[in-house]
Amino acid sequence: MSTQLKRFQAVSRAYVGVVNREYWRIRPYALPYFHLLDRMHQYLLPRTYLEIGVSSGASMTLSFPGALNIGVDPEPKVAMPLTRTTTIFAETSDEFFAGRELGTLLAGQPLDLAFIDGMHHFEFALRDFMNIERNAAPETTVLVHDCYPIDEPSADRVRPPGLWSGDVWKLIVLLKERRPELRVSVVDVGPTGLGVITGLQPDSTVLKDSYEEIESKYSQLTYSYLENGDKATILNLVPNNWATVQLLLPARPRRHEPLPLLVSHRAALAGWSVVRSKARRQRLKLQKRTQPKP
Ligand SMILES: C[S@@+](CC[C@H](N)C(=O)[O-])C[C@H]1O[C@@H](n2cnc3c(N)ncnc32)[C@H](O)[C@@H]1O
Repeated sequence: MSTQLKRFQAVSRAYVGVVNREYWRIRPYALPYFHLLDRMHQYLLPRTYLEIGVSSGASMTLSFPGALNIGVDPEPKVAMPLTRTTTIFAETSDEFFAGRELGTLLAGQPLDLAFIDGMHHFEFALRDFMNIERNAAPETTVLVHDCYPIDEPSADRVRPPGLWSGDVWKLIVLLKERRPELRVSVVDVGPTGLGVITGLQPDSTVLKDSYEEIESKYSQLTYSYLENGDKATILNLVPNNWATVQLLLPARPRRHEPLPLLVSHRAALAGWSVVRSKARRQRLKLQKRTQPKP
């Protein structure tokens, strides 16, 4: 590699580092897994992104401008700036997959990255995975939130106050047993782990053929199954270091735009929304002050 190219790469990396630092400074809050998701977006540069469970849009808005994004949530409360190529469907994921053609919504492009973070019950995560897999390409990456529960109360099917990861972890146990050809790992990232699944086979009918038996069998697992065994081994836990995580992902970035351009565009969008909401707050304050007292 020529010295000039090396210098260019070093400058570009430094620029991306500075822009990203500012980006994270202006975002309202950041859980540890957001940083990992961001790193994955920067590495894979997905052309298409599907998110089940959008809520405020905190994870959705990590996807770079220009990517075709689909979000599904029956009660979206989007408070972050979405790009023009993002569509949110206000319905459950079951309704979405029953009534819509993902391939058409993605304009015939393959699904590069999907993130399952909807209803935190095992059977919902299972159906989300099955529906995504039948729409997947061989190089699709599926991420599943909440696969490494921290304790029994937060892994309950009934939502406790505070942290709730539910029994999504059973999906990992099931896929390891019934779909050994898939590559299934869980990254040890706070608060409750991130599952990474690759090697999808859209034509596989293993899960569909035995859905009822599988749902009934794995639903009966209890948290003691993890406590009585080696939880990390049962759930294929890997450390959250990038050299390890990178090996779980497909090797090529999907988009060809330079990363410095994409990070700048995303940070500019976030910055603009901060400026707009500050201006809105100022306007409201001013209105209150100038309103005549009754
Ligand atoms: C933990 S939040 C998602 C957080 C978001 N992914 C993030 O990291 O910023 C879970 C969301 O799933 C949604 N949800 C609940 N049941 C769902 C279902 N059946 N299909 C899709 N989304 C669902 C909830 O409305 C909620 O907004």
